[in-house]
Amino acid sequence: MAPHTGYVTKLPAPPKFSFASDNVAGAHPLVLEAIAAANAGHVRAYGADPITARTEIAFKELFDHDVVTQFAYGGTGANVFALASMLRPADAIVCAVQSHINVDETGAPERALGTKLITIPTVDAKLRPQDLEMVKSNIGNQHAPQPGIVAITQVTELGALYSVEEIRALSDAAHALGMHVYLDGARIANATAALGGTREALRSFTCDAGVDAMTFGCTKAGGIFGEAVVFFNNAFTDRSIYVRKQVTQLHSKMRFIAAQYEAMLHDNLFITLGGQANNAARMLFDKTSDISSLQLRTAPAANSMFPIIAKGPREQLQEWAHFYDWDVAANQVRWMTAWDVTEPEIDAFAAGVRALLA
Ligand SMILES: Cc1ncc(COP(=O)(O)O)c(C=O)c1O
Repeated sequence: MAPHTGYVTKLPAPPKFSFASDNVAGAHPLVLEAIAAANAGHVRAYGADPITARTEIAFKELFDHDVVTQFAYGGTGANVFALASMLRPADAIVCAVQSHINVDETGAPERALGTKLITIPTVDAKLRPQDLEMVKSNIGNQHAPQPGIVAITQVTELGALYSVEEIRALSDAAHALGMHVYLDGARIANATAALGGTREALRSFTCDAGVDAMTFGCTKAGGIFGEAVVFFNNAFTDRSIYVRKQVTQLHSKMRFIAAQYEAMLHDNLFITLGGQANNAARMLFDKTSDISSLQLRTAPAANSMFPIIAKGPREQLQEWAHFYDWDVAANQVRWMTAWDVTEPEIDAFAAGVRALLA
């Protein structure tokens, strides 16, 4: 494609890294080493291997709780698997309208689970206890889907974080209505790093705050593939191994997913990598937020920000460096940082943005 006017003259050399997502990055060397080590010999398949057994115990230690952890192939599949394990017949899932399960899974939960998503309009993809008021009248109405699950995402799809108190208040409200709480933790590493950077912090906004089950992301944090579903509430676990297979998430060579998690949990590597991605976003914010047209008013809570860039310069920048549109009508894009982004790459990206916009 021919470059737009100004491309050659204004923009410096493009950064080598992308600011499109956290899944554009490769895997961390320790994850690769763990996979190579797991490759030796023959072991039992479908999760009956020693690495999976060790990693299941590592999750119990991580949460200091008798959790049941089951691995799945990917984020969408893990969401479907977890939700399928939690749903009762005629249950619906209450979620933010911007949630990944609503807008980015090609309708997988509806198709695979035969359920209804009740979507709540929000500004930051966060649900609040008062949002549950909207579905209260469904309860006991035989013509209405029964609100069974509140599904939240931490970090949210709009880069916001729930505080411990917010998750606790939402869980209390949900439980009072007989609902359960599910947390999509595709970016749990970033959330943990942002909310204190310790295992205690992780527990405080998950199991200790009343979450019944969650996904614990690996891919975005620096893995290759694979997600973990962690059940805190053992009401969902007796049939979950069957559900996992039924929704096609049982990996035969399970050791290779488990090995990635073993590496991620060892010495809290996931927190370190989540922190690196968050710091990179903060750096990018610090180097660009003075460009007023971007309208970057508050520092990123984790690893993403959503600046405004008019169509012309946006297209030139996107031809030069990779990042996604978020809301085209509002000229909003998403910049997201991965665990491996370096300061020189952030400088290179910020320099291009500045050359065109400042
Ligand atoms: C909030 C959230 N949940 C889940 C996923 C996982 O999706 P995938 O099926 O692409 O692994 C993503 C990926 O972008 C996500 O952002």
